[in-house]
Amino acid sequence: MPENHAPTTEATAPEALGASEPLEARAAVPAPAAPASAPARTRREPMFPDGPAPDPAGSHHERRIRSFQPRRSRVTTGQGEALRRLWPKWGLDIDGLSKLDLGELFGDPELPVVLEIGFGMGEATAKMAAADPGTGILACDVHTPGQGNLLNLAEQNGLENVRVANGDAIILLREMLVPDALAGLRVYFPDPWPKKRHHKRRLIQPEFLALAATRIAPGGLLHCATDWEPYAEQMLEVLNSSPDFENTQPDGGYAPRPEFRPLTRFEGQGLDKGHVVHDLLFRRRAA
Ligand SMILES: C[S@@+](CC[C@H](N)C(=O)[O-])C[C@H]1O[C@@H](n2cnc3c(N)ncnc32)[C@H](O)[C@@H]1O
Repeated sequence: MPENHAPTTEATAPEALGASEPLEARAAVPAPAAPASAPARTRREPMFPDGPAPDPAGSHHERRIRSFQPRRSRVTTGQGEALRRLWPKWGLDIDGLSKLDLGELFGDPELPVVLEIGFGMGEATAKMAAADPGTGILACDVHTPGQGNLLNLAEQNGLENVRVANGDAIILLREMLVPDALAGLRVYFPDPWPKKRHHKRRLIQPEFLALAATRIAPGGLLHCATDWEPYAEQMLEVLNSSPDFENTQPDGGYAPRPEFRPLTRFEGQGLDKGHVVHDLLFRRRAA
């Protein structure tokens, strides 16, 4: 987790290395000694047998800079129970192995589906799904406690239009979604990576937009929001320069927050620090 937000989980030493690290460097990091009380579980063994797979696509083998920091996370009893019970029904591991049929995944071939990258704990996702049952939300994150939390929220609120995807959204977009599969894409408060040497980890970059544009159907909305002013400026610049998207704002600037986007957890933390929030609302151009 980048520095301006308090970490909610701990990173393990090997996992804390970025994907760009050579494998030799990873191998050189000694594994932390297991505490005497730790249950005997090998590193590759899933914590939740029917739940999300650890790094399902093995993306740590891919030499690519990742937009998130893999971390070992504390999962509450309720989240763990939801992961075990509801993952087989509503969960999806991003293994990069096959193309997804979103109509089949949501049980409705007519349902428009939007992808949300980085839902965190999922409260805003659940609110959006409840407010708009005619849209499917494919909610993607690597954060296990959040996956459990969103599954719980979906069940408690009877939400049939949410699916929880575990893994790197880049692999989902690149390997598993067919062209024009999405009615829209939402990226709310992506990790801001404030240090200059980490800017390359920011999600919203020209290469990402070029990939996303192939998966969003013409006319579909790309909606980003951030409370990190320099990142907002970068987003506006790369989005306005993209040949694939047009700004919904005639002045080429930020958009007012649309009513369908609830306040998110990270947004609340940013607002408490006096940050200004910007929404960016762009439309996929016709090919
Ligand atoms: C700063 S948090 C924001 C969470 C939530 N949207 C909110 O506003 O409260 C960013 C989230 O994006 C996730 N994330 C970053 N890059 C990702 C990627 N490539 N694929 C999936 N999730 C990613 C992180 O794990 C983290 O949970």
